[in-house]
Parts: sequence; C-alpha cells; structure tokens
Amino acid sequence: MSVDDRMRQMSGQWFHALGISQEDFAANPYAVYRRWQDQSPVREIAPGRGRWMVLGYQQVRTALTDPRFIKSTPPSYPIPESYQHLPEMAPSMLVVNPPAHTRLRSLVTRAFQPRHLERLRPFISALADDLLDEMSRQSSSDLVEDYALPLPALVIAELLGVPQQDRPLFRRLSQKIALMVDPTQSADVRQAGATARWQLLDYFHTLVQRKQDEPCDDLLSDLAAGRDHEGSALSAGELLTMALLLLVAGHETTANLISLGAYRILSTPDALYELRGHQASYSDAVEECLRFESPVQLDGRMAQDDAVLGPTLIPQGASVTLVLAQANRDPVAFANPDSFDIHRNPNPHLAFGRGIHMCLGSSLARMEGAIALEHLLSRQVQVAGPALYQPNVLLRGLRHLPVKIS
Ligand code: HEM
Repeated sequence: MSVDDRMRQMSGQWFHALGISQEDFAANPYAVYRRWQDQSPVREIAPGRGRWMVLGYQQVRTALTDPRFIKSTPPSYPIPESYQHLPEMAPSMLVVNPPAHTRLRSLVTRAFQPRHLERLRPFISALADDLLDEMSRQSSSDLVEDYALPLPALVIAELLGVPQQDRPLFRRLSQKIALMVDPTQSADVRQAGATARWQLLDYFHTLVQRKQDEPCDDLLSDLAAGRDHEGSALSAGELLTMALLLLVAGHETTANLISLGAYRILSTPDALYELRGHQASYSDAVEECLRFESPVQLDGRMAQDDAVLGPTLIPQGASVTLVLAQANRDPVAFANPDSFDIHRNPNPHLAFGRGIHMCLGSSLARMEGAIALEHLLSRQVQVAGPALYQPNVLLRGLRHLPVKIS
C-alpha cells in the first residue's frame, strides 16, 4: 500500500470513528477532540483491535518520552521499474528506534543547531522579500501557493546545497509531493506526487554523485563525504532517504505554520496591531500559532510492554494515536486554551513532539515562521477571498488563502 493510500485509509477510519464529515471536521477539529477528551483523556478506538487514542496533555507527553512506547515497523516500498538504478531505500530516522535512530540522527544534529542555522537568516529574509515582491506585482495571489509553500522548500534547497539553476525544478517537484499527502486530491494529482517523489530521489542521486566529486559547503556534500558525524557514514540508500525526509518533514509542516499563523493573526486585530507596533514579539507569536493550530495534529507509537497512561492500561502491542492538537488545548496545561494569545508565556506546547524523536528542524521552523510572518505583515495585506482548509487529519493547513499584497 502506498503512503497516500495509507493516509486516505487513516483519514477514512478517523472520520468514521468520529461520526462526522470531513468538511465539518476540517473547519473545527478542536471541538470534536475536546468532547472526546472530556469523556476520557485516553480512549480505545476500534475496541478489541488494539488501537487507542490519547488526548490529555500529560498522557501525550508521557507516551512521547516513555521508552516503552516505540515506533512500529515501517512498510517498505518497491522501487518502480524506471528507477531500478537507484540504491535500495532505507527507513528514515522518523520511523526507526534506537540504536538505528540514534546513529541516523547524530549524523545531522549539528546542522540543525541554532548557531549553525543563523547563517541562513539573511537568505530567508531575502527570499521572503522576493516572493512578496512577486506577489505584489499580481492583482491577486495565493498566500499558500505563492509564499507559504515555496519559502520552506527553497530554504531546504539552500541548506542541502541544491544549485541555483535547479531550484525551479526542486520547487515544482516539492510542491507536487506536498499535495500527495492530501487525501482529498484527485487520484491523478496524488499519482503525480508519487512520480515527483521518485523524480526527486533520482535528482538527489545524481546531485550526491556531483557533490562527491566536487564538494561544497552544504549539508549534502558533508553527508556524501561522510564528514561531520559521530557514527558511521550513511549508505547510498540512507543518504537519499535522509535528503527526502528533510524536505518532506520540513516542507508542508512549515508552510502550514506560515499560512495558518498569517491567517490567524490577520483575523485577530489586537495581535496584528501589537506585532506591527513591536509591542509583541514574533517568536512568542510563532509559539502560540504552533500551539493553537498544531500543524502536525497526530503522532503515533506502539506499546512495547503493558503501560499505564493516566487512568488506563495500554496493553503490549497496542497502537496509540497521540492527538498533539488536543494536548495543546488541554485546559490542564493551558489557561483559556481556545483563546489565541500571542503573549502566552510559558508555552510548553507539544507541536514539535517530545523525547528522542522531537522535531529535528524545530529551530529552523521557528526561524522561518518568525521571518516569514514579520516580512509578510510589514506589507499591506488584504485577505481577498475565503480561506480553504485542507481536510487532512494528520497535517492541518490551508490549501488556499487569496490575498492582495501592496
Ligand atoms: C512547523 C513546522 C514543523 C512541525 C510542526 C514539525 C513537527 C514535527 C513533529 C511533531 C515531529 C515528531 C514526530 C514523532 O514524534 O514521531 C517531527 C519530527 C521531525 N521533523 Fe519536524 N516539524 C516541523 C518542521 C521541520 C523542519 C523545518 C524540518 C527539517 C528541515 C523537520 C525535520 C524533522 C525530522 C527529521 C524529524 C524526525 C526526527 C526524529 O525522528 O528523530 N521538521 N517534526
């Protein structure tokens, strides 16, 4: 089964279990989750089939950090006929457990530390301005397609070392791959996404060979040369998986932070006024956007042993869905959880997860979010049409937000 089929199946089961339509859910998933949490912070879904849902903040946090909750074995995908020259793909750090996870993560940790990322700041600022200039030349534009999606894709291209002349191709393929995880897209669009994924892997394969011959000062060159790590070097398949993971994990998630954050702030006059008047900080606002809208709404683990979560015993072998979206709105952890407060401090949200799999790119996402919002809101921005949410249970984001920029 392909990734998008799994995603569709997961969404279908979810809506069925909730007893509501995708559209109602997309408009406000939080009301549904709150109702469920009020009944029980940990509940069995599909009784008798070993599937549980965890909604309370403390219980979600425990499941993310307790080593008895692990990643379950990932499916493997056969390489299509026309890409047989590619090395066999390996599972990514996102889906494996220690010690494999520790080794893979240690190879890239340094590149994602805040002091290493600082050198990207001028690039991200200039990119945000270029995209906004381009949008301001059009009579109307789409905040998602013209700003929120291209910005993180091109930042990852810069970090990896995708040459300038290849970036239009990289941007096109990335955008197609992002659409692949939207279960409501047509079969053609999703198929185009799957094809784009193989095209991009093929592109990375060629690029890695070039970087081996002529190394540059970028992450792909470091990984290809086996430099900059504490563990052993990556195999060819692991390297391709790593490059794809960094794109996929950081692209739509960050795009959703930017589009949902911008929409929320533009719809909250006090927040807009305070940010424009420098009475509030963009970094605090980004934290609240992450808490309030949780771009990654759900996470998952498997119980390796019997484990108690809150009032409930989770049996060995059970799969647990961790509802980050509801944990971030749990009144036990956050006062007035349904109010959007850009001054909220402390803000210990779980939008980036916790524990050993906590988002590797959290500092990068925070920096991109703050720069993208600050540059956008320094312009005159008018919302020029209705916001359309993606009816995707896993990743919450906007599909379209028509705007006029001047
Ligand atoms: C707002 C943007 C983002 C959000 C909300 C987000 C959220 C998350 C979450 C919840 C996890 C944990 C998954 C788990 O526990 O199974 C995760 C893992 C990860 N994220 Fe992010 N992410 C974002 C941006 C990024 C960026 C920009 C990158 C890199 C370019 C990135 C790379 C990763 C990687 C590699 C992992 C796997 C870490 C591991 O398994 O050790 N993410 N992210």
